[in-house]
Amino acid sequence: MTVITSNDGRTSQISARRKTVLEIEGLGVSLRNGRQLLPIVTDVSFSIAQGEAVALVGESGCGKSITASAIMGLPPDDAVVTGVIKLNGTVISGLGPRERRKFCGRHMGFIFQEPMTALHPTLTIGRQMTDALRHNLGLDRAEAVQRAAQLLDRVGIPRAHDILKGYVHELSGGMRQRVMIALAISCGPSLIIADEPTTALDVTIQAQVLDLLEDMRVELDLAMLFISHDLEVVGDFCDKTVVMYAGDLVECGRSADVVRDAAHPYARGLIDAIPAHNETRTRLTPILGSVPPIGAWPAGCRFAPRCQRADQQCELRPSLTDVGATTVRCWHPIAKKTSS
Ligand SMILES: Nc1ncnc2c1ncn2[C@@H]1O[C@H](COP(=O)(O)OP(=O)(O)OP(=O)(O)O)[C@@H](O)[C@H]1O
Ligand SMILES: [Mg+2]
Repeated sequence: MTVITSNDGRTSQISARRKTVLEIEGLGVSLRNGRQLLPIVTDVSFSIAQGEAVALVGESGCGKSITASAIMGLPPDDAVVTGVIKLNGTVISGLGPRERRKFCGRHMGFIFQEPMTALHPTLTIGRQMTDALRHNLGLDRAEAVQRAAQLLDRVGIPRAHDILKGYVHELSGGMRQRVMIALAISCGPSLIIADEPTTALDVTIQAQVLDLLEDMRVELDLAMLFISHDLEVVGDFCDKTVVMYAGDLVECGRSADVVRDAAHPYARGLIDAIPAHNETRTRLTPILGSVPPIGAWPAGCRFAPRCQRADQQCELRPSLTDVGATTVRCWHPIAKKTSS
């Protein structure tokens, strides 16, 4: 068993023998554009073990949410998804839509950035929770109501029976996100996918929601895919980090290694933009330029037009290689800092 202690002294234990919950191999998502296919995500592979949190990070438009939607089986209507997605050993990418919904309803929970769009505005919170419990777990109405109230209580919502009779617009942003978390864990999933779960909340509420998510992960031994812009949060909260750029996985490894010692110039640029990791500079270093839109990616390294290390070799597409403790898609990775 490996014991990892994070900066704030919290300790998480990850066993090499822990069951793999999610395995993604060569995931690709393309959009139909007339008779052509336009890639939005290409060749993404990673896995998440029981009790492990994996962060998916990258600038806006890099393909984080599309990757999550493909795993959830909810990609855009005109998308084509390729590659293999396995959940608890079952190849869910090979299931028909009904079978997949049924399987994922039991094994996967979702938390989105904006609960107002994920929760139904005209159905009571109780109806939405009990429908999921009755459908996925076969509970009768009374059992489902009791379980829903227990779940709300568990996520720190007082007066659970009153809240069950209310509607989502009657709740504050933090309370709505707690309801989303209660719904996400309601059917006893092994995987939670959280897409920017705290971005829409103010800072103090963000911290409370993150603490709740962490408690749930530890208590229920959940695998978690955590999508975020906030690398500082990711470093503390997640065991592993996957960095995406323009639909590509460009670096992955243990969060501590990625945050301390990223080798991909893009990943290093994201980390250098975090104030706490920029002690040596008086000004933060932004990554110049912006993510190219889909359909306008360079054929070789997609980051090359923004990269100060780029040369002719970068006109060819780099493959993933191990550089020190992380895996990197780059012809000219940054040398690792001296180990501390
Ligand atoms: N339904 C869709 N139809 C066409 N293009 C889409 C669709 N959804 C996403 N895209 C495009 O796919 C790319 C990746 O989008 P995605 O939403 O996955 O980005 P993201 O990394 O989650 O960004 P953000 O941090 O802003 O949420 C973007 O260029 C986006 O415009
Ligand atoms: Mg997104």
